[in-house]
Amino acid sequence: MAVETRPVTATLPVGGENVVRRASDLIGATPLLELVRTGSGSRLLLKLEQFNPTGSAKVRMAREMVLAAERNGDLAPGGHIVEPTSGNTGTGLALIALERGYAFTAVVDGHAATDKLRAMRALGAQLVTVDGDGSDGPSSVRRRQIAAEIAAATGAYRPDQHNNPYNNAGYRELAGELHKDLATDIDYLVGAVGTGGSLCGTVEELRRLGSRVYAIGVEPVGSIIFGGEPGAYWQTGAGSPADFPVGGNVHYDLIDEDCRVGDIDAFATARVVARRTGVLIGGTAGAAVHVALRRLVRLPPGSTVVVLVCDAGEKYLDTVYDEDWLTARGLYDRAAQQRIVRLCRAYDESVRLAALDLRRQGA
Ligand SMILES: Cc1ncc(COP(=O)(O)O)c(C=O)c1O
Repeated sequence: MAVETRPVTATLPVGGENVVRRASDLIGATPLLELVRTGSGSRLLLKLEQFNPTGSAKVRMAREMVLAAERNGDLAPGGHIVEPTSGNTGTGLALIALERGYAFTAVVDGHAATDKLRAMRALGAQLVTVDGDGSDGPSSVRRRQIAAEIAAATGAYRPDQHNNPYNNAGYRELAGELHKDLATDIDYLVGAVGTGGSLCGTVEELRRLGSRVYAIGVEPVGSIIFGGEPGAYWQTGAGSPADFPVGGNVHYDLIDEDCRVGDIDAFATARVVARRTGVLIGGTAGAAVHVALRRLVRLPPGSTVVVLVCDAGEKYLDTVYDEDWLTARGLYDRAAQQRIVRLCRAYDESVRLAALDLRRQGA
């Protein structure tokens, strides 16, 4: 069959072109996806931060910290950046460093997702790997020590994401996007907490914009940010191990409530979200969604809940989304997945029943 051809020029835009010249210009304007709604008109929305370049929210703060360091004279042309990272901050810093002509050294440990390490290397970062302490947890203290030593020996700039105020400031735009994209106030914002930057930075700016949002911080069971019992966990990026001092960017006064979610529920929820929506979310986002899903039933009618999805599940195909990996660690639990599936179905059913009710009343 003959294929109809049209002159190419017919499809070119008439006005200005929509082309960026740097990958970092693609940061932001990430989409909101409705995961579930209830018969009482409440909604659970996912702010999909994996749509940023480097596939995570953290590139927002990486850029903010580097630009601030340039303004403050901490970074000069041809400079060197060193930072301990579980991977997402590192990938963000690697991108900003390559665009702006800096060398970047990431101090990592065996707890990091392999694909994050590969991504940093692909963007030209040098990786320094510290030995684990024999536990399944991250070696945050050791990573920080080595990064400090490298900075002292080489004069490299260390952003210190746990205490750098430009980490939190990097999420002002995210708050602005939520404010702009929703026709209503956000009643609940749920986010996994590591440095605290994404949740606290977003909440602070939302409230400055007039929101009355209630903020829920989520950490892995075993993390000590909100005073829980220390222990091992496999969620990466969020949480803080026993011996790691919580940094100044966790503003406890901005967080209304804290929750702990174990790896089994976090990963089961991420896997159910994948099957329901076709979007793969990371394990810490799974934890935050878990909290939001369970909370939704108890909220006043018409509530809007937003979960900050820090990163993409594609970074965890060989862990969270690998049944063998989960099974080997005792983290594969069909019943946990079924509980989430049933919860989502109950919400779907409540929408159906509410619609039936409306129709009956109208009849
Ligand atoms: C996957 C993941 N989730 C959650 C977080 C926590 O974000 P924040 O450090 O802004 O608290 C991070 C931080 O690196 C992360 O990488």
